[in-house]
Amino acid sequence: MVQFTTLNEISNETIMQLLKRAERGIDMLSMSGSKRFTVANLFYEPSTRTKSSFEMAQKELNIHSLHFDVTSSSVQKGESLYDTVKTLEAIGCDALVIRHPLKAFYKELQDVNIPIINGGDGAGDHPTQSLLDLLTIYQEFKTFKDIHVVISGDIRHSRVARTNAAILRRLGANVSFSGPDEWMDYDITYSNVVPVDQAVKAADVMMLLRIQTERHGQNGFIDQENYHHLYGLTIEREQQMKDHSIIMHPAPVNRNVEIASELVECSRSRIFKQMTNGVKVRKAVLEHVLKTKGEVKYENIV
Ligand code: CP
Repeated sequence: MVQFTTLNEISNETIMQLLKRAERGIDMLSMSGSKRFTVANLFYEPSTRTKSSFEMAQKELNIHSLHFDVTSSSVQKGESLYDTVKTLEAIGCDALVIRHPLKAFYKELQDVNIPIINGGDGAGDHPTQSLLDLLTIYQEFKTFKDIHVVISGDIRHSRVARTNAAILRRLGANVSFSGPDEWMDYDITYSNVVPVDQAVKAADVMMLLRIQTERHGQNGFIDQENYHHLYGLTIEREQQMKDHSIIMHPAPVNRNVEIASELVECSRSRIFKQMTNGVKVRKAVLEHVLKTKGEVKYENIV
């Protein structure tokens, strides 16, 4: 049973294969001589990009998406994540996409007999976001080796920062960080923290992060205008970037906080390309986990 819960357990070779598969494209996926696959998307936290792009990927692969709405389900009666997953396994789902606020929620699901794809676990990991980020960088530079990626902003509360820092280092990129001291996390940054005015000049990729106010608790107040001035990608800072450098952001974007609104769609920005790549990599991940469910038939591979 293939689970796709963290990139830590996936080899560099498999990651590169998934990226190549995503780039090459997959048209249809079905079990040979049998039923269409059915996948349910369980989002215990809000999502636009991850949920919609998984649904789009499933539609393009001829996979049936079983409607599951946490707010109108028996989760509201107190049903546990484990019992919800066992129920969907029992009624015939072939895989589940789960986003959940609990870090490493998937550890309580180790004994289930259904592939789980992690759509984001609290401040833990976001492996499919990382894959789409990797694809976007690879399309640009054709390598990860010695590419300088600066991850900027709310590092401590960001699953994107945690997952991307680990995998980019593993693939040979130089990773450094910028942002407020109170949001740095030595377990992610080590000592590679630089002031943003230095970072913008050095980066091949400026990867900005959303301020995760929902994870800040009582200590979360920030003055957004002040943040933009002190740490954000202002128009003046963008002008200091190298000619070939690109801007990324997992979104949703707080315009004029992490990034000046005018820069969201500027020529350096790959923010919407990241979203397009999200459908591509999620198709590749669905194929990767469903391969173990039986003999998979490919149709019209492009
Ligand atoms: N980047 C990302 O995960 O966006 P959503 O929260 O909208 O899915």
